[in-house]
Amino acid sequence: MSIRRLPPELINRIAAGEVVERPASALKELVENSLDAGAGQVAIRLHAGGLDLIEVTDDGSGMSPDEMRLALERHATSKLPDEAIDRITSFGFRGEALPSIASVSRLILESRVRGADGWRIECDHGEGAGEGPAALPPGTRIRIEGLFDKVPARRKFLRTPRAEYGACLDAVKRLAMARSDVGFTLEHDGRRVLTLLPAEPPARVAEILTHELERHGIGIDCVRDGLRLTGVISLPTFNRGLADQQYLFVNSRPVKDRLLVGALRAAYRDLIARDRHPVAALFVEVPLDEVDVNVHPAKTEVRFRDPAAVRGLIIGGLRHALDEQSQRSAAREQAAAPVMWTTSASYQPHPDLGTGIAAVREEQQLFQPVTFVPQARAEPAVQPVPSYPLGVARGQVAATYIVAEAEDGLVIVDQHAAHERLVLERMRAAREGGAVARQALLIPEVVELEEPECDRLEGAAAELGGMGLEIERFGPTSILVRAVPAALGKTDAAGLLADLAAEIAELGGPLSLRDKLDHVAATIACHGSVRAGRVLSVAEMNALLREMEVTPRSGQCNHGRPTWVKLGHGEIEKLFGRK
Ligand SMILES: Nc1ncnc2c1ncn2[C@@H]1O[C@H](COP(=O)(O)OP(=O)(O)O)[C@@H](O)[C@H]1O
Ligand SMILES: [Mg+2]
Repeated sequence: MSIRRLPPELINRIAAGEVVERPASALKELVENSLDAGAGQVAIRLHAGGLDLIEVTDDGSGMSPDEMRLALERHATSKLPDEAIDRITSFGFRGEALPSIASVSRLILESRVRGADGWRIECDHGEGAGEGPAALPPGTRIRIEGLFDKVPARRKFLRTPRAEYGACLDAVKRLAMARSDVGFTLEHDGRRVLTLLPAEPPARVAEILTHELERHGIGIDCVRDGLRLTGVISLPTFNRGLADQQYLFVNSRPVKDRLLVGALRAAYRDLIARDRHPVAALFVEVPLDEVDVNVHPAKTEVRFRDPAAVRGLIIGGLRHALDEQSQRSAAREQAAAPVMWTTSASYQPHPDLGTGIAAVREEQQLFQPVTFVPQARAEPAVQPVPSYPLGVARGQVAATYIVAEAEDGLVIVDQHAAHERLVLERMRAAREGGAVARQALLIPEVVELEEPECDRLEGAAAELGGMGLEIERFGPTSILVRAVPAALGKTDAAGLLADLAAEIAELGGPLSLRDKLDHVAATIACHGSVRAGRVLSVAEMNALLREMEVTPRSGQCNHGRPTWVKLGHGEIEKLFGRK
């Protein structure tokens, strides 16, 4: 065996393997360079998903010919003037991107500093291929042609131009959200696909993700322990089947962090079904010495000194905002779903709802089975409407929906969904008040797990104890379970602990137990709730409305659907063509 020093060519190719995985990663590096150069406008052109051509033009600082030559050398950067690797405010700092990209493509670099002439350097797979004067406005233009053409090993892993284009678009969107003050254009195969004028962050995010956020989004702005969180999240009722619109920015840098996934899940816990996902763009600002950005060659990951604090900030901030908005969600949702309101001409009775209007009967007992006999008596609307947000009950439709009159319109409540929510919130309040019932096991159960899992559980033992799960370390790879939350009933302790350990690892906090408890609570709540199809008295209906008004998160049911909708006076008039 002989050890040899690798030639620079090979070193660059190796670095390229880490930095430029696919066209999107090369594009990301180029756009980052433009932003670091102070560009106010970045124009991007792609051919065949970036496989044939990636061109990025900016109006930034530009480079002198000497700087251009240096820029193509490995580990040459202008961004670490005083070796302060721990105080990085630019996107780049490693000085690797340009030489790496140049080693696996044909690269044409043109640049011009304001007040000087432009220059052009060409480079073919790491070899200089000529240079000379160039005509261009101040700034820089880089063209990358035939990326990976001569690297079959890498080419094999590239996907179709369509898929590569998708990844490029995503990279541009992330950077465009990170820097809303910069204008961007993107052209693919000669077609303009994105035109973004400089904007305020909320407008930019809505422009890129969906304008629906303007109606269904909640703005976030909170500060805690020197950390700041801003951004926008969707109302629980505005959700998606994929978790593909969740973005995290740390000090303006787009990062991919599992922390966000877990924190979002925790914040929306029981507001949204498990297989649905909110839309979120969150911007965290942390002091520079609280975060290490030099942990990943493509700089898409960061390491927080105190990840729990960041996680806590996100969960706490979002939860607070969601609670504040919880009354709003259902009413807002209906504004966005006019299809819910049909005119009488096109009304088709729903087969499940029976055919009649169950009358309001003051003397009606609770829990009485319903017979769908249409009855003519309804609460006459003679008394003045007191100003309750959800109004006063006027009647019940199909023994399923409460119809109430509010000052500003007609309110319809899904009685089962609403009551289920109220019961769950009551149970939760009891738990958070410390009244968690636990059930001691007659014979403590020993659960065998991997050692790191045991370590994690042991570390969370106190918190778990507070939720009714009493555990004790019982050797390197086993845990003794002494008591379980009574609400869980007969549990598969081994399964529960394994799930908990995995979740603690993933989320940095023992959420699973709370999730499980909530799940159980929700199930119990469901069984203990006013069913659809039960006739309610006016007093019962009004009691339900009043409790909804003071209960947090009562605007949506445990599955994220609205519990009530309001038809404003204006909308009623519209239905009758009066407006
Ligand atoms: N679009 C650009 N405008 C001005 N200077 C640039 C541009 N792109 C690259 N440079 C210069 O080239 C250097 C090397 O770029 P790069 O290889 O991406 O490394 P890094 O961004 O980590 O410094 C940068 O530090 C910068 O000085
Ligand atoms: Mg760079």
